[in-house]
Amino acid sequence: MKLALTVNRAPVTAEVEDRLSLADFLRDHCGLTGTHLGCEHGVCGACSVLLDGEPVRACITLAAAVDGREVTTIEGLDDDASMAVIRECFSEAHGLQCGFCTPGMVIMVRDALARGRCESESQVRQELAGNLCRCTGYAGIVKAALLARDRLNAAGAPAPSSQQKEASLP
Ligand code: FES
Ligand code: FES
Repeated sequence: MKLALTVNRAPVTAEVEDRLSLADFLRDHCGLTGTHLGCEHGVCGACSVLLDGEPVRACITLAAAVDGREVTTIEGLDDDASMAVIRECFSEAHGLQCGFCTPGMVIMVRDALARGRCESESQVRQELAGNLCRCTGYAGIVKAALLARDRLNAAGAPAPSSQQKEASLP
């Protein structure tokens, strides 16, 4: 089918197979390999992207289902102010080792911050329960999320929008 959508704020058109997943479309057609594929059946969260501002698992979303919609991948958040803080905190708090789970993790942390769901360690753990990491033991990831919350609060930054617009730091 013919597909026309917005990917990382740019219009994209393509002819795709009806059964092509959004993850394969992003990686193979768009060259956006920051969307990682782990389990490929909706369990690990490595393929998380934003669809019209809401997190979805790209491995179990059909490319055909996003026709006319807006997709944001980890690459599309490169210049997002809140994501810059989250990245910095993941680095400082040792929230990653191999980095395979990291794009999905930071997208989910950003979304949890947008919804005010990083208020405690247990809340962060609940929010990230659908994202698997085989390296860190999660302690560094949780610490990074709480650190990002504190830094964004201290900077007086608005919580990152649940839409993919950049949150502006003062
Ligand atoms: S690759 Fe999509 S959830 Fe694991
Ligand atoms: S850092 Fe390796 S899987 Fe999470």
